[in-house]
Amino acid sequence: MFDLSDYKWWQKAVFYQIYPRSFADGNGDGVGDFAGMIAKLPYLQELGVDAIWLSPHYPSPFVDCGYDVSDYQDVGREYGTLDQFKQFLNQVHQRGMRLVLDMVLNHTSDQHPWFIESRSSRDNPKRDWYMWRDGIDGNPPNNWFSAFGGPAWEFDARTSSYYYHYFFKEQPDLNWRNPAVKEAMFNAVRFWLDLGVDGFRLDAVGTIFENEDYPPIPEGMSQEELYRLGFKKSNPDADEGFVAYFMQMFGQQVDKPEVHQLMQELRTVVDEYEDRVLIGETDAIEFYGDGTNELHLNFNFPLMQADKLTARHVKQNQAQRLSALPEKAWPCNTLGNHDVSRVYTAFGDGINNDAQAKLHLMLLLTLKGTPFLYNGEEIGMTDLLIRDQQLFRDPLSLLYVDLERRVNGTDEGSAVVVGAKKGRDRNRTPMQWSNEPNGGFCPPEVTPWLPVNPNYADGVNVNDQVSQPDSMINFYRRMLLVRKQNPALLVGDYQEIDIDNEELLCFSRKYANDELLVVLNMSAENRQVVLPRKVNQILINTLKNWVHIEDPAPTLLPYQGVVYRVG
Ligand code: GLC
Repeated sequence: MFDLSDYKWWQKAVFYQIYPRSFADGNGDGVGDFAGMIAKLPYLQELGVDAIWLSPHYPSPFVDCGYDVSDYQDVGREYGTLDQFKQFLNQVHQRGMRLVLDMVLNHTSDQHPWFIESRSSRDNPKRDWYMWRDGIDGNPPNNWFSAFGGPAWEFDARTSSYYYHYFFKEQPDLNWRNPAVKEAMFNAVRFWLDLGVDGFRLDAVGTIFENEDYPPIPEGMSQEELYRLGFKKSNPDADEGFVAYFMQMFGQQVDKPEVHQLMQELRTVVDEYEDRVLIGETDAIEFYGDGTNELHLNFNFPLMQADKLTARHVKQNQAQRLSALPEKAWPCNTLGNHDVSRVYTAFGDGINNDAQAKLHLMLLLTLKGTPFLYNGEEIGMTDLLIRDQQLFRDPLSLLYVDLERRVNGTDEGSAVVVGAKKGRDRNRTPMQWSNEPNGGFCPPEVTPWLPVNPNYADGVNVNDQVSQPDSMINFYRRMLLVRKQNPALLVGDYQEIDIDNEELLCFSRKYANDELLVVLNMSAENRQVVLPRKVNQILINTLKNWVHIEDPAPTLLPYQGVVYRVG
């Protein structure tokens, strides 16, 4: 039996993702910044999170909302200065928390000096830092697509050649087969590690290498067809035909075996420093390597890739995921981030959303593995559908408006709604701090970079909720505290217990002599459960004062969850 102190900090931590542009605006210009983040550190400490994952804070033309980096060793001016970054990092550490940055390896911005040089002439020393190929008879080098729509090749008139981009055309792919690229990027990694950051969330790791023979894919696939089929590669419910189609379409461009060699090298770099962590934006188990030599954590995305979080889905997911992990690999769960619908919206049924959101947090914080939360979910923030396309900031929204009109013949007004739903602005709106105008995010007279969800005025804000004992935020605080105080939840063994009810999820977490029993009613009906263990304490309950400890067969209300201590 390992002692609790034998586990690494990132195995026991709860991570909280900050989307810097929307978190806290310290200088009142409508854009979040480091001054704002510094001021909110006491808030995060009181909430009870242990580590922060910061979405890109680098200089960026902001075509892909910061994931198009134009300098890996600086801070975007709208967020502040490198000095402010250092203050932030320092204060995060002083408060006993950790900071993990977002590292975008696959591509840079087309405004990065490396690319500006690379495109300037065929014999520029940086030419081979990106993926340049000549066209064939006036056509692109092959018929590959970009995952963000349209061809994967962009013609550049200056040198009459094409460059490859898996994402937007403003995000040219780096050529990782060039050792100079690796060196430059590893230097960027070292730059932040030297400053003391605790690790990285690695963006889109699966896309770093492509098949270098550039084989064309079978004809007959178009962006429109892909749109018709939807973008659900790893959704277990997606039909197999679609998955096969997707792999046919993008299989040459993702998850190439060489990436594992690279990740192992990166791990070696990071291991030169003490106690740092690498987290992959991928659900592919292979990125764990042998469990000790590649990435420390990779997201269990299939958990959240479901229309509804049913007990059946979670059971299947856990059974598959936990059995697939190599020995020593540590699980990592999340229900939301800056790319997907907010938890409250995605998994709420429109009637029981509050109860569901609390239950889903209990699930996430009691499953085995490191949990990741996304800023704003602690107050039950919801998606905001922007109705005016002038206000869209995510180009994917505009792309979908266009596709929806062309593919389905939808009128403009309805197509804008589709664009708003499928784009990612909906889940990136500013944090709602109070019931003052603009949700207290920025001064009333300032226009925030994305509109604030008007439900800030109806109680969906930090200030109002802090004073209400049963609010979402206070449940988050209690649940985070219960997790922190119970080693069984941090590192204990996980065992599902079959209680003969499809709608209930019951599992035990056990550490040393302590066993906890988690019982979750994941349905909209009352459900009686005969407790499979004798219990002597209720650690936390999603609904106030409802379950009695003496009752060996309690009836759980819709979406009620309880954590008991066995004994
Ligand atoms: C990742 C990011 C996403 C971004 C993409 C391209 O998936 O999470 O926001 O658009 O990579 O960098």
